[in-house]
Order: sequence, then C-alpha cells, then structure tokens
Amino acid sequence: MPTSGLLRAVLVAGLGLLCAPPLPGADPVATGGGAVASDEADATAAGIAVLGAGGNAVDAAVATALALAVVHPEAGNLGGGGFAVVRMGNAVTALDFRETAPAAATPEMFSLHGAPAPERSKVGPLAAGVPGSPAGYRELHRRFGRLPWAQVVAPAVELARDGFVLSERTHRSLRSSASLLARFPETASVWLPGGEPPPPGSPVRLPALARLLSAYAEEGPPAITTGEVAAAIERASRRHGGVLTAADLTAYRPAWREPIRFAAFGWELASMPLPSSGGIILAASCGILERRDWSRRPRDGVARAHLLAEAWRRAFADRTLLGDPASTWATAEQLLAPARLDRRAREIGRRATPSTRVPPYPVDNRRESAETTHLSVIDGEGNAVALTTTLNGAFGCGLFVPEAGFFLNNEMDDFTTAPGQANQFGLIQGEANAIAPGKRMLSSMAPTIAWRGGEILALGGRGGSKIPTATLQVLLNAVVDADPLSAAVARPRLHHQWLPDVLAVEPGALSEAAERQLRRRGHTIEPVKGTPKVNAVRRLSDGTLEAAADPRGPGSAAVIPPASPPHRSF
Ligand code: GLY
Repeated sequence: MPTSGLLRAVLVAGLGLLCAPPLPGADPVATGGGAVASDEADATAAGIAVLGAGGNAVDAAVATALALAVVHPEAGNLGGGGFAVVRMGNAVTALDFRETAPAAATPEMFSLHGAPAPERSKVGPLAAGVPGSPAGYRELHRRFGRLPWAQVVAPAVELARDGFVLSERTHRSLRSSASLLARFPETASVWLPGGEPPPPGSPVRLPALARLLSAYAEEGPPAITTGEVAAAIERASRRHGGVLTAADLTAYRPAWREPIRFAAFGWELASMPLPSSGGIILAASCGILERRDWSRRPRDGVARAHLLAEAWRRAFADRTLLGDPASTWATAEQLLAPARLDRRAREIGRRATPSTRVPPYPVDNRRESAETTHLSVIDGEGNAVALTTTLNGAFGCGLFVPEAGFFLNNEMDDFTTAPGQANQFGLIQGEANAIAPGKRMLSSMAPTIAWRGGEILALGGRGGSKIPTATLQVLLNAVVDADPLSAAVARPRLHHQWLPDVLAVEPGALSEAAERQLRRRGHTIEPVKGTPKVNAVRRLSDGTLEAAADPRGPGSAAVIPPASPPHRSF
C-alpha cells in the first residue's frame, strides 16, 4: 500500500528535497520555502505538498491536521478539538476550537450514588465534549487560507480513500488501548479485526472517513455537524450512554481570541489564552525566571533546575483559578500582573517550597460562576502556525462512529469532574473549571510562536499537563542557549505541576550531583512518567529554515526549498 499515490507523486515530481519520504525525527535544513513538523510522515508530506502547490502556512497546517485525522487516529481528529496560534505577516491571532460540554451536561454527571466515578469521564461517549475540529479547521482556512478549500482537504481524502501504511507507533497505541477499544463493537470491527490490531506496515483504508472528508471538502462543517452524519453520531453516543446530540454539533462555534502576548529573553511571544492555561503558565514561568536571572545561571547547574521547578509549582497552583474565559475565577491579566509575578519570584528561596505552602493566591473578583498532537508550519513568507489538537486520551473515549469514520473525544475529563479528584494527568483542578452546559474545559495546550527581528520559531507539544513545561524548555534551549532546533527539541527535560509535589526528571536531564543537591534542597525527584513531545519549525534571520520533530515521537519534519516550482496536482 502506497503512501497515498497522488501525494507521493506530488512529492517526487515537485519537491527534489523530498524524493525520499521525510525521515522520522529528521532535522532537514534548507533556505527559503517552507517547513512542517508533525507526528506522522504522511501528514508532514501533506503539509509540504500543499506548500509546494502554492499554499501558505495556514493551508499547510490545515492539510497536515486533516491528514493526521486519517493516519494518526489516536490523536489526530475530526471528533475532538484544539487551538491554533497564527502569525500572518506581523499580525498574530489565536483560534479556539476547543470542545464544549453538551447541553445536557451537569456537574454531577461523573458521580454515581454521590461518589466520584472517574471512569465515566474517560471511557465511552458520556466523556465526549462537542467536537470543535470540523468548524475549527474550516474557520482557519476561511480567514487565512490561499488555496481553494477542496485542495487543502484533498490529501486527507486521498489518504483515507486510497489507504496508508499503519505505522509502528499507531500499532503500539492500538495494542496498548486494546481493552478500551474492545468495549465498543463499532470500534473493534475497524481497529481490532479478529481481536488484534493490524500489524505495523498493514494497509489501512477508511472508506467512511473518505466519503465524509469528500463531503466536507464540498460542503464544509455542515457535512459533519448536520444531517445524517450528525444523527449517526447522536445515535452512537446514546447507544453507549452518552448525551451528545446532533443539535450540540450544529450549535458549536469556534472563537477567535487575543493570544497571550509577552516579551521574554529578548523575544516577542504569542501563546494560547483561556480556555487553555498553556499560554498563561508559559508567560508566568518566563516572568518568574527572568526576575531571578535564570539565563545567567550555569546551564547544567542546580540553580536553573530549582528555579524551573519553583516557577512551575507557582504557575500550576494558580492554574486552579482558571476555566472557560466566560466564567473563569481569575484572568490572565491578574495572574500575569507584574506585582504578582514579583511576589511569586520573591517567594522562591534556596529550598523547595512544599506545594501545600503554595496555595493559589485569591483574586478579588471571583465569579461564581497523551493523547494530543501538535504541528508547526512556517511558509516562505514567514507566516507561521502552531496548532495543537486532541482527543484527550489515546483514541478519546474509545467510541469510533462507523458512519462518520472517526473517534469521539473524552475531553470532559479535563473539567473538574469532582472536587479533589485528579484527572488523567494527575491535575487537581478548581471550581472555576466545573462542568456547565456549553462551557469549554480548561486545557494545558500551548501552541506558541516566538519572534525577534527576522527570526521566527513556532512550537508546541503533546503530553497533557507536561505541555507547557516541555514547550518552555524547548523555547529556552533555542532562544537562551541558542541550540540548533533539533538539539533544543531532543534535550532531556524536567516537569513540576504543583501537585503531586514531585520534580519529574527525564533520564539525562540532571547530573548526579545536581540531583543530589536538589534532594538536599527538599525536592522529591522521580523519573518522568509519560513523554511529552514537541514539534517545532524555525526561520533564522538569514532565511534558513529548520524543522524538528521530537525524537521521543517518532515524528516527521521536512523543509521545502524556495526553488521548488509551485505544484498544482491536487
Ligand atoms: N486534553 C489535554 C489538554 O487539553 O490539556
């Protein structure tokens, strides 16, 4: 089974650099053109083909995301949601296509007889928020796309219709999620034929998804959110105890938002605002680190690791005050106020502060009220997109809607499902993030764009609560320590999220001496659980482009040189 025939023909005919498929985790470097980094080679190839056909960064980002919805079913999606930060010329904006709680959602829906029932917010369609991706991708393209919509959707149609080769990674994901997937006959018949995941290298065709994508290419979101497909999603959801309706799907709207804008370490940055906490955590951490002269400390010394852990401890404590911007208990302006960051920075001593002694500071206007995937794209004009999309857990709630050909998310678990109950990322969340109909659940996703003069960096990652800390470390490696992009992405990382009060350490992130000293200062150190993955692209001031996929992935990165003629095969 081919990497889709047309797609491969485009690559071979149009793009000299890419006659060979992009290597997993490769870090190609060229001047001019465009660059894409994502979690799957077929998806990166779709983005590169669209750039080669004269598309801009938004066209390529949408094509990549839709291709991921086919070839990366554990996280790429039409049944989930996400966020994108976009820089077109000098203008930056952010699209929120996060899922919302269905109209019939209630704060008690994840309790049984008064006790928390944590499985219900993770498994089966009761866990599904209203998908935002179908409207989100279309809206991104409507506002900024250059190529016709059908041409941007075409690579995904082709991958679903003509087939793709099951990657080793997706095979492993299917195997590790097999008990979830086996609970739904609709899912098992497609993804566990004969009770087993297809072996790596198997050809996979998804005819229902191909039909859906063809209709989406013609009609846009109504092909999914109205009519027969929406009715089929409602039926599948009800069959397994869900409350998602066709009316919820039809009513969903994405929202353009002002990004979190801040300056740090001589760079301008734009990251995702509420309902993601990612940009706020990034900006608060940078603010605290700058106040404590982080960049002047020795790179592998204990001081940098200690300051990172203490900054994150405080930023994640304040996260508990956040929720949907329509009903949050604190705003970005409050949490990022210079006086507050001064105070947070001053609190940090030589020793670790136990998280029990770092409560979220109250603010004075309270209102009562995995598995993810990230892609980064830059085009030859320097326009950039950082886009993170998710089903939450791998394969979302596990239910694959046969008539639609996609999985529904389990994003309801990102709400505070019960007081004091950790979600699947171990996050303890606040009342600001309680469930209410139509509300968006708090996220940690942090698609981010940074620039300084002619240099531009677009990055972001997957990994739940570890997304902002992983994104920050790659950013610091690139902008403070001037690492080549592939080294910035690969370097081992640390993570702290307030509770549990643990500094998670990837092998190689700390020397033995630094680890000993951190323990002496009162840090509890544990090997990292789960591996956040960051995909990034960068344009240097001389126009050189880099693309780096996280070697923990594997992902796929590719650069298209400027000399490539526009290719118009789709
Ligand atoms: N579903 C993970 C997040 O949004 O943070």
